[in-house]
Amino acid sequence: RPVPAGTRAGDMERMDVTETFSGISLPGHLHTQDSLSFAVSFPFRPSDVVIATYPKSGTTWMQEILTLLFSHGDVLPAKTIPNWERAPWLEQIYFREALQDMQDTAVCRLITTHLPARILAPALQQGKAKVIYVSRNPKDVAVSFYHFHRLAKFLPDPGSFDSFLTQFLEGTVHYGSWFDHVKGWLGQRQLLNIFYVTYEELHQDLRGTVQRLSTFLGCPLEPETLAALEQHCSFATMRDNAMANYSLIPMEIMDHSQGCFMRKGVVGDWRDHFSPWQNALFNRLYQEEMGALELPLHWPM
Ligand code: A3P
Repeated sequence: RPVPAGTRAGDMERMDVTETFSGISLPGHLHTQDSLSFAVSFPFRPSDVVIATYPKSGTTWMQEILTLLFSHGDVLPAKTIPNWERAPWLEQIYFREALQDMQDTAVCRLITTHLPARILAPALQQGKAKVIYVSRNPKDVAVSFYHFHRLAKFLPDPGSFDSFLTQFLEGTVHYGSWFDHVKGWLGQRQLLNIFYVTYEELHQDLRGTVQRLSTFLGCPLEPETLAALEQHCSFATMRDNAMANYSLIPMEIMDHSQGCFMRKGVVGDWRDHFSPWQNALFNRLYQEEMGALELPLHWPM
């Protein structure tokens, strides 16, 4: 089985390396040119289900939801297999190993990615995989990403919140610009078999959203499955699940003294972080980038 991300000696050596691929920076301890090239030309299948997200948008939540949906409410896989094995990251170093493991067991392969659509969409179109794109209010993404930088030792030191926010708005953070990511994936509406959902919708109506997901995936949903899923995918349960909360990752990779991966799990935490000036700047740039678009999604800004 693949080992937890970043526990191999080779990975440790690459801890402070930044890998640049197609104009975006990525953590070098998880990505190489080889792992990224493998992702870009990956032969997807129509039965593959791909979770695509910009970081901190609800990736782990969706991994857990789909695990429970596919297991028909059986919590055993979610309680015994780490999420990076249940839904491995396509672009990361250990994906090839994870793939071998999935080939033996999985009816459909659940795959996760943070890559932008301009890099990945051609392979997805070719292989006709199903895609679930989860997005979140970018102000909350910025706050969550900032706190994550403080514990993730494989990401650059974020400095103050103000300087991190500047980098976030410039799109110079790892994984690139939030605006480009969202616009790129929204642009795939007509080209991919894609389901759009927001973090805020999951909060507001988990049941309804899971029902829509089950229809999209053609995966039957019994009332008992829904009840088990709701219970298991709550923030409180996931915060205590070592297979989902990243507490298995060693201190050298994630400094757990700096905070928890499952931090707050709320909508609108940006209000406790943004100054009026930062908010005005954010709103102006958001308007410039997104204002003219017809969005099928809504984030309470
Ligand atoms: P916060 O830092 O705002 O708490 P990702 O998985 O894409 O990295 O996103 C992580 C964010 O999703 C964190 O946000 C985390 O707390 C939140 N999250 C994870 N599981 C959740 C759940 N079950 N309910 C609500 N939020 C959840």
